[in-house]
Amino acid sequence: MAATEEIRGVGHSVKRLEDARFIRGKGTYFDDITLPGMLHLEFMRSPFAHARITSIDTARAEAVDGVVAVVTGELLAQHNLAWMPTLSGDTQAVLATDKVRFQGQEVAAVIAESAYIAKDAVELIDVDYEPLEAITTPQRALEDGAPVIRDEKEGQADNHIYDWEAGDKETTDKAFAEADKVVELDTFYPRCHPAPLECCGCVADVNAATGKATIYMTSQAPHAHRTLFALVAGLPEHKIRIISPDLGGGFGNKVPIYPGYVVATAASLLIGRPVKWVEDRTGNLISTGFARDYHMHGELALKDGRITGLRVKMLSDNGAFFSDAQPTKCKAGLFHIVTGSYDIPAAHVVTEGAYTNKAPGGVAYRCSFRVTEASYLIERLVQTAAYEIGVDPVEFRKQNFIRPEQFPYKSATGFTYDSGDYAAAMDLALEKLGYEEMRREQEEARAEGKLIGIGVASFTEVVGAGHGADYDIAGLRMNDGAELRIHPTGKAVLKLSVKSQGQGHETTFAQIVAEELGLQPEDVEVQEGDTDNTPYGLGTYASRSTPVSGAATAMVSRRIRAKAQKIAAHLLEASEDDLEWEGGRFVVRGAPEKSKTIADVAFAAYTNVPEGMEGGLEGVYYYDPPNMTYPFGTYAVVVEIDRGTGVWKVRRCVAVDDCGVRINPMIVEGQIMGGLTEGFAIAAMELIDFDEDGNCIGANFVDYLIPTAWETPKFELGETVTPSPHHPLGAKGVGESATVGSPAAFVNAVVDALAHAGVRNLEMPVTSGKVWAALQEAGLAE
Ligand code: CDP
Repeated sequence: MAATEEIRGVGHSVKRLEDARFIRGKGTYFDDITLPGMLHLEFMRSPFAHARITSIDTARAEAVDGVVAVVTGELLAQHNLAWMPTLSGDTQAVLATDKVRFQGQEVAAVIAESAYIAKDAVELIDVDYEPLEAITTPQRALEDGAPVIRDEKEGQADNHIYDWEAGDKETTDKAFAEADKVVELDTFYPRCHPAPLECCGCVADVNAATGKATIYMTSQAPHAHRTLFALVAGLPEHKIRIISPDLGGGFGNKVPIYPGYVVATAASLLIGRPVKWVEDRTGNLISTGFARDYHMHGELALKDGRITGLRVKMLSDNGAFFSDAQPTKCKAGLFHIVTGSYDIPAAHVVTEGAYTNKAPGGVAYRCSFRVTEASYLIERLVQTAAYEIGVDPVEFRKQNFIRPEQFPYKSATGFTYDSGDYAAAMDLALEKLGYEEMRREQEEARAEGKLIGIGVASFTEVVGAGHGADYDIAGLRMNDGAELRIHPTGKAVLKLSVKSQGQGHETTFAQIVAEELGLQPEDVEVQEGDTDNTPYGLGTYASRSTPVSGAATAMVSRRIRAKAQKIAAHLLEASEDDLEWEGGRFVVRGAPEKSKTIADVAFAAYTNVPEGMEGGLEGVYYYDPPNMTYPFGTYAVVVEIDRGTGVWKVRRCVAVDDCGVRINPMIVEGQIMGGLTEGFAIAAMELIDFDEDGNCIGANFVDYLIPTAWETPKFELGETVTPSPHHPLGAKGVGESATVGSPAAFVNAVVDALAHAGVRNLEMPVTSGKVWAALQEAGLAE
């Protein structure tokens, strides 16, 4: 057999194919799109967090030269578009009609010949407001007599949204009654924001002649968005084409439907010209999908050093409209992994949601439906428990880990973890860190008056939503499609329902086809984002692309290989059963010199198929994942604290991740480094805050801090591989693992430096000011 070039399929660090255009500045983002006759949209936003609108006068704005229209909520109401449904089954104002409910809410929109004219004209819209009390905490929102924020909703007499629970109260109460120690932690996961480099926006182009609406928009889920557009606007779905072009990051921010998309489309429909909406940074930070904002109380029941029960009570601040992207049947994703990596026999978790006068969102910022909060809580609780019973936090974790032989493991909240080996990941992380040595150094440093802290988080994550029977968004099953066509010369086009925002899909999904069909990744073009051109599916968020679309890609490739085998048998004049798939080609058993590649077969598929066989070599597969995948890992962080200022610095950060089989190890490492950077940022600096009047503090990058290369620590990575038993390639998702798992490791490290003085908690973001206050209180300040 002729020597063959090694197929660079699964497991190869193939350089990112898409970078050929990105590093040359040749990416196409929505703002690069200019259509003939295009108009520009700018919003007028509310200065108040809560106020009744008594009048809106648009006359002065309309009189500006170049202004084509001023759109108000009242105008939209005439077309039944003033309110839209959210992904959580609530409603959200597109443009305010009765009241404004958060600072920065969209009140009116100017459509003009240029963006500058639109911005100037916005200043001339006259709105009279009657200010109301602004509610900025869920605790105040739920007090008796608090003003009702959503008073327009029939039957809504207070600010309560939901109560959900998981686990078993009775067995949990029993575990607590029999415990020899109970450990508690109250903590708050503050509001932060995905803040992608590219803000949101769209170009809506409704063609009056054909009735076709083409919307270029920043969408992580173009197919789901098209369906929702059809349902909301009453447009026929086949007359809507959503094109999500290159995206400059998403991190969950580009999952919800925002008023900008709706108003631009409605304006294009009414005016008959294309309309562009470009969100600015303040618009992005003040009004689009925030994340977290969870108040959490956790308790562990302990007996003989083992965790016997977990009790959790959470209170979520959802802002003025409940618009988390949340599977409707699986209400709170946090239930999946709230018991963490630990074999906890009994758990009871309750969570309540409330409306406040803040922007809506609660998006899964690099996270699957609030699992970041759950991971943070359990990893902080476990460390607290270790201190309280005087055991090293690492030992305490090891004593309580779910053991490898217990998988598949049914958690006390009712979810089945697919696979894991937590001790192996932890051992590797500790070895890389030199844990014992680090502990000795910590002791010695303490004796010299220096503060070193070592923090560990052994997180379990959950990604890959999800099985159609249990998971849906707005009723849509969370399946994804892959369509693959092999052309006569053996070059392939793969069309996917997911949408990369920088994750390297054009490379990794090509590698999956390469692995399955013996092509090189460069022979496969991956297309995503255009609903007229790709199969249906729910899109990219919550690290679901590899678990769902990756599996669909493997399955469609295998389907094509099955047909290819018949054609190869015909070409080789052998029985189909005598062919083996070996080294990326079909080989006749016992006669290795007789073989055919997929390229050979592809040519025959269009020129020389067996009698009676349909020509062509293509297929489509819709994958319904049997279960979620549960990636995991151990992050170990060492910090030093300056006793004179409270400034803390990361000295080491070791991250061992297990996401099953890695398709492209280089891309996985990039994902982990990005995730660690965001986890560090959340722990150290990111915060969207509000003053008592509901004014947003964090509406620009002066107030909302994101780390630059200067602040970002160095990361040392390691890996273990525990394949997912139900994924065709054994792969689990990874994109969000580090953001989910690492904040607890950073905070645990800072707390660990002060734990000997009795400090048990510091709230994120752990600023030097907070550490300084803790140092003073503990008598450690210098
Ligand atoms: O859904 P999203 O693409 O954000 O997340 P993901 O499925 O975790 O994938 C992120 C990137 O890492 C993609 O390019 C994946 O193909 C790649 N990846 C990989 O190479 N191997 C894995 N086991 C998981 C992800």
